[in-house]
Amino acid sequence: MWIYSAVLLLVGLTQAESPPDETLDRFLNETNQQLAVIYDQAVLAQLLNELRGPNDLVALLEIEVTDDKLLKYVRTLTTRKAKFKRLGLGDTRQRRLLSKFPQLGYEALNDRDLEHVYALASNMSDNYHNVKLCAYKQPENCTLRLIPEVQTIVQGSRDLAEIEYYWFEWRRRTGLATRPQFVAFMDLYKKTARLNGYPRAEDYWFRSLELDGQETMALLDKIMHGLRPLFLQFHAHVRGSLRKMYGEDLVPRHRPYPQHLAEVFIGNAFRRVQAEWYVDLPSPEAGLANITQELHRRGLSTTQRVFWNVAEYFRAIGLPQLEESLWTYAQKVASDDDDRCWHKAWRYYALPRTNFTYCPLNDEERFFNMFEAQADLHYYRAASAQPTLLQEEPFPNFSDAIGKCFSMAASSPRFLRKLGLLRDAKWKELPARLNRLYVQGLRVVFLLPVFYVLDRYRVEVLAGHIQADDNEAYWRFTEHYTGATAPSKRTNAQFDVPAKLLMEVDDQYASHFLSIVLQFQLLKHFCAESGQFENGNPSKPLDLCDLSDQRGIGGILQKGMSLGSSVHYRQVLQTLVGEPEISIEGLLTYFRPLQDWLQEENQKNDLEVGWK
Ligand SMILES: *[C@@H]1O[C@H](CO)[C@@H](O)[C@H](O)[C@H]1NC(C)=O
Ligand SMILES: *[C@@H]1O[C@H](CO)[C@@H](O)[C@H](O)[C@H]1NC(C)=O
Ligand SMILES: *[C@@H]1O[C@H](CO)[C@@H](O)[C@H](O)[C@H]1NC(C)=O
Ligand SMILES: *[C@@H]1O[C@H](CO)[C@@H](O)[C@H](O)[C@H]1NC(C)=O
Ligand SMILES: *[C@@H]1O[C@H](CO)[C@@H](O)[C@H](O)[C@H]1NC(C)=O
Ligand SMILES: *[C@@H]1O[C@H](CO)[C@@H](O)[C@H](O)[C@H]1NC(C)=O
Repeated sequence: MWIYSAVLLLVGLTQAESPPDETLDRFLNETNQQLAVIYDQAVLAQLLNELRGPNDLVALLEIEVTDDKLLKYVRTLTTRKAKFKRLGLGDTRQRRLLSKFPQLGYEALNDRDLEHVYALASNMSDNYHNVKLCAYKQPENCTLRLIPEVQTIVQGSRDLAEIEYYWFEWRRRTGLATRPQFVAFMDLYKKTARLNGYPRAEDYWFRSLELDGQETMALLDKIMHGLRPLFLQFHAHVRGSLRKMYGEDLVPRHRPYPQHLAEVFIGNAFRRVQAEWYVDLPSPEAGLANITQELHRRGLSTTQRVFWNVAEYFRAIGLPQLEESLWTYAQKVASDDDDRCWHKAWRYYALPRTNFTYCPLNDEERFFNMFEAQADLHYYRAASAQPTLLQEEPFPNFSDAIGKCFSMAASSPRFLRKLGLLRDAKWKELPARLNRLYVQGLRVVFLLPVFYVLDRYRVEVLAGHIQADDNEAYWRFTEHYTGATAPSKRTNAQFDVPAKLLMEVDDQYASHFLSIVLQFQLLKHFCAESGQFENGNPSKPLDLCDLSDQRGIGGILQKGMSLGSSVHYRQVLQTLVGEPEISIEGLLTYFRPLQDWLQEENQKNDLEVGWK
């Protein structure tokens, strides 16, 4: 039974207090049209950048020009918008449109502060990207970038002193070196929040989720609480493996594990080549599937074939058929660097078209990426039913969850077998399944607490509960939530927060966090509704769920995606999964077989769970 919920949508309408206002209507229509034209120029500039490579000056200039144009336009909008808001004009939908106007952000600061805040942000970001460390025991050799050089050295090292050296240097040169910038930045961020109408800066931090600071933290806390039992078992197991490798002196019982060693261990799950050589798999004899090899054997070795194969997948679950010209006009991206080469859909707001760019590499990652890119394409087209102001996803990274849900379903051994890959029956049996879950688990389960801590720390700073450079508070959060500790005691003489900020300093992590949790929730829902997953039925576990040909899914997806951001994400979720909130249950169900195995192994090997 597919459950539709139109009820919540109707509730919105009945709350309308004032009738629609005609002057406001004209203003909104004009804004939608003008924004669409400027957005399209920005998209074309980005597309040029993608096609010509990151150093093309024409594309970079074009990006700058359109940014500027948008900013100027937003400034003119801001005063007019304020007037309509003050008068309280308009019905619910009009007010929704008003609330989705682009905001000034830092541009609300005075010129001096504005210049300062940009300088601070780029100083921190440049520092992170340009810092060069000296090689271990080679004080003359100081040319190592953090990524990839230092990362690669540490990942391949068995020398404890070397791993430790780089851990300390990384933090000294990224964290301590930018402490004053970080502190000054957080101050200006608070000021920005106030000037944008948010007396509490933590509310501003999470504005794109349309939840206030307290609501967001309550949601994140609830998810962390739900994750805890699985995390504790997994943590205990990894600590056991580390103890085997490094001994009980370095990895004592009932203590958080040393972060520098755990990072090397967990980082191995992200290796592209031969991860099984480095990771302690539950069933080494069963191994991990090599899907790249299978794709080539099966003849799915051109991007064009993959494109149409995946297009057919989505058509067969009830989404619209893609037109021939989409591929005919598709262009190859400039970069074939592994980390930058991806398939991508491009949407326009005024132009009546969609473009597609592709990466010519044909491997496992690009194969699953095709599911994500085409899911985006369907999303863009569905949401184009909305006016420009309401076409964005309900919160950043929301659409990623849909794409990842389908690439995850496509990586199910049941589906891959249907496609003529993974013919060996062993891939559907428990030993191989546990291996797959273990590697996926290392990538997902250990990441969530790290994301949580980064947002928690900055929110505590914004709320004024701690100083911006309270390193000891940072380590209290890190120990409590991630079960990891520094190689030696850290105090407020050091500052380690910026060392982990792989994104810009003002990017919140909550939307990534929620997106990861949501992808499992979507999977569980679609699999349960289509009968491909049954709770308690060992022949229908969630990790084997195959969604191909489940025609009922398309209609629901279309309905949810076409809402864009015309309503709160809770109402979109109600449509998509029949419940209004993001929940950890899907993720827990997915990893259930692994959790059972971990628990048994931990008991069998007398591994303690948790830490003091
Ligand atoms: C604004 O646009 C809507 C939808 O296109 C249209 O129905 C409405 O008449 C327009 N309002 C004005 C005042 O132009
Ligand atoms: C950042 O600012 C500091 C202090 O003003 C300066 O010493 C440093 O060179 C700057 N770093 C970058 C990458 O701009
Ligand atoms: C510097 O150190 C790195 C890492 O140990 C090494 O790969 C490289 O060859 C060294 N360069 C020189 C000039 O010694
Ligand atoms: C999978 O097979 C391909 C092609 O045979 C090979 O190049 C690649 O290294 C293998 N990948 C892994 C993860 O073993
Ligand atoms: C985008 O699509 C249009 C037609 O739909 C085509 O004319 C154009 O060449 C495409 N552009 C790129 C960069 O793919
Ligand atoms: C969220 O979006 C950013 C920017 O597009 C991307 O780099 C990141 O990988 C996304 N996160 C997830 C969990 O999809």
